[in-house]
Amino acid sequence: MREPTLREIDAKTFRRVLGGLLEVYVAAMDPPPAQLPGRQTIMLKHATYPGFRALVVEQRKVFGASPVAFAYGFHGASGQWWHDVVDDELRERAGYEHAASWLSDAYEVAELHVRPEYQGRGLGRTLLTTLCAGRRERTVVLSTLDRRPETPAKHLYRSVGFHDLLSEFEFPGGGPPYAVMGARLPLVRVEAGARR
Ligand SMILES: CC(C)(COP(=O)(O)OP(=O)(O)OC[C@H]1O[C@@H](n2cnc3c(N)ncnc32)[C@H](O)[C@@H]1OP(=O)(O)O)[C@@H](O)C(=O)NCCC(=O)NCCS
Repeated sequence: MREPTLREIDAKTFRRVLGGLLEVYVAAMDPPPAQLPGRQTIMLKHATYPGFRALVVEQRKVFGASPVAFAYGFHGASGQWWHDVVDDELRERAGYEHAASWLSDAYEVAELHVRPEYQGRGLGRTLLTTLCAGRRERTVVLSTLDRRPETPAKHLYRSVGFHDLLSEFEFPGGGPPYAVMGARLPLVRVEAGARR
């Protein structure tokens, strides 16, 4: 079988292939099916945000190609739900200056998923570093499930300089605890002993 290939897609293409990307999301995250329509609506909205950048990894088939991994991000701004919730919480816990230092010029990585059978081959790392390469923002921020033992996602994020800005954080509306993580751009590889 051929190696999967990575390509950047614009917002229009993202909307067109969103069904296939949601299948990757389901395979990677195993969410309750009832959450999927809401997730799709949120992802469509994200594609309208400034600085939107999306990458997809595809496996060629006899007829066409199907996505096996994807990632996207955009420029965070006031008025966006995630940005405002995290900004409020960071201000309350650590003050305005601290919140501003992380969120006033931030790239937000909203989704990063690899189909289970393609995990552990370097696709997640390549997607994350390519997504962040050349970005002009000062920081990059994201949220990820906060579980014990730590998830592969958190290992990956720590290995390129992310650390927890918030831990065991419950977003409004309920759901499991999340870590909000941040890193300064550009990303740099951090050796295991030096990770925070
Ligand atoms: C997290 C995820 C995107 C990583 O993608 P991947 O292609 O499997 O990861 P890579 O092969 O590029 O590995 C990158 C790093 O991830 C970490 N990692 C990957 N698999 C891991 C595992 N099973 N256990 C611990 N760390 C792991 C390691 O730090 C690894 O770096 P290393 O190879 O130098 O040790 C992927 O596992 C995934 O889609 N998981 C389910 C969905 C998810 O959690 N998405 C993130 C939402 S915020």
